[in-house]
Amino acid sequence: MSTTELSGLYDVIHRRRDTRREFTGAPIAPDALRRVLTAAHAAPSVGLSQPWDFVLVRDETTRRAFRDHVHAERSLFTAQLDAERAELFGRIKVEGILESSLGIVVTYDPDRGSPAVLGRHAIADAGLYSVCLAIQNLWLAATAEGLGVGWVSFYREDVLRRLLHIPARIRPVAWLCVGPVAGLPDQPDLERAGWRNRIPVEDVMHHERYRERSSR
Ligand SMILES: Cc1cc2nc3c(=O)[nH]c(=O)nc-3n(C[C@H](O)[C@H](O)[C@H](O)COP(=O)(O)O)c2cc1C
Repeated sequence: MSTTELSGLYDVIHRRRDTRREFTGAPIAPDALRRVLTAAHAAPSVGLSQPWDFVLVRDETTRRAFRDHVHAERSLFTAQLDAERAELFGRIKVEGILESSLGIVVTYDPDRGSPAVLGRHAIADAGLYSVCLAIQNLWLAATAEGLGVGWVSFYREDVLRRLLHIPARIRPVAWLCVGPVAGLPDQPDLERAGWRNRIPVEDVMHHERYRERSSR
């Protein structure tokens, strides 16, 4: 890989942001969407199971129903916070479901490639890890295409299953808000809001053995 290509890769990795506020609502070019989904589908997966599916949600009624559910879940979370954190959380946006151009729901099918998924016999979660890698590929490709992505996890899996007719054995892993953006901020939204800061890489590095540290 040339130095320019390498710096392009790291640039995309560091430019990627979870997006909520910056969506313009403009349509996504079909070719770009195809490239982004193809990048997601190129992810590594345990036993080459490729256990993901991508449900593209454009319908306004479906999106409104999901947004209402997310708002209800947000209220439940707020109720767990003390007054100061609740006030701070009140200023944080956790979704751009209606503002984005497209919802992409990424699901996990534990039966794909089964019964004997190579590499999953001891760690069942390896299937889920694979889906998360597909999401990260999607996120980075979208960033390179000038699109924003916002991961929404304020939902109950059964509610989303019912909404999208997802069978009970399949797990919805993420609702991704995707679309063109006005720009991407330099800092994570939660850091800007004063909710939590990124921690230096040195603080998560260990040498030779794991050393317990106070939680950050
Ligand atoms: C598994 C997962 C679930 C997330 N769920 C939400 C969510 O429900 N709402 C939200 O606003 N951001 C959500 N995020 C985004 C994180 O808040 C964000 O990645 C983090 O603050 C770091 O910011 P950055 O992605 O811009 O670097 C989620 C991210 C991950 C990986």
